[in-house]
Amino acid sequence: MRLLEELRAEHELIDRVAGSLRSFAAARAKGEGGLDDGAAFRRFFRLWAGAWHHAREEETLFPALAERAELSPVHGPIAAFVEQHREMAKVLDRLDPLLDLEPLGADAARDLVELATAYTRELGRHIDAENSVLLPESEVRLRQANVLDLAGRAPTAGELEARAEGERLVAAWAFTDDAGGVRGEGCVVCPSYGSTCRGVEAEWWNESEWSEFSDHLG
Ligand SMILES: [Fe+2]
Ligand SMILES: [Fe+2]
Repeated sequence: MRLLEELRAEHELIDRVAGSLRSFAAARAKGEGGLDDGAAFRRFFRLWAGAWHHAREEETLFPALAERAELSPVHGPIAAFVEQHREMAKVLDRLDPLLDLEPLGADAARDLVELATAYTRELGRHIDAENSVLLPESEVRLRQANVLDLAGRAPTAGELEARAEGERLVAAWAFTDDAGGVRGEGCVVCPSYGSTCRGVEAEWWNESEWSEFSDHLG
């Protein structure tokens, strides 16, 4: 489904810009890096990752899963992913004023690196959980419900500009791995697993899938 392919492609760019943000934060902490790039990171994560990408999941994909594929909007994956969007936005709110602060100062420099690490770590796990669980499960479930395409609004000119800025930032700032972060596949990487979401079998499977599963077990 085109929407799901586009969301996956958007994850790739968002993930790459997150790696560039870690490089930028480290450089700024050493007194390097331009203020314009700080503002460009802000626009990318606010407009392209937030107002466009996360909102597209919330406004187009999640309602379709709830209305057509019988997924609960109030618990499990949908609620968990929406909550993660909110939590990441809160970290971004704290990071935002430091992105182009000048002079930065030692305390603010430390905060910038910590918040950029926290934000991109959460974002990385969120993306891994969506790529490995949400998108493949959505593909199957929406197809079963005969939903073969989902249309949403088109991106605004400002959102497209923010995406182009992200592509420029990726070229300008090398990707830095999150040394302390854990990336991977499946529910175990999801920040909500075990707290607000009980995982794919418990939250996504319907009765017939469970009985099929017990038939396999014999
Ligand atoms: Fe998301
Ligand atoms: Fe996403």
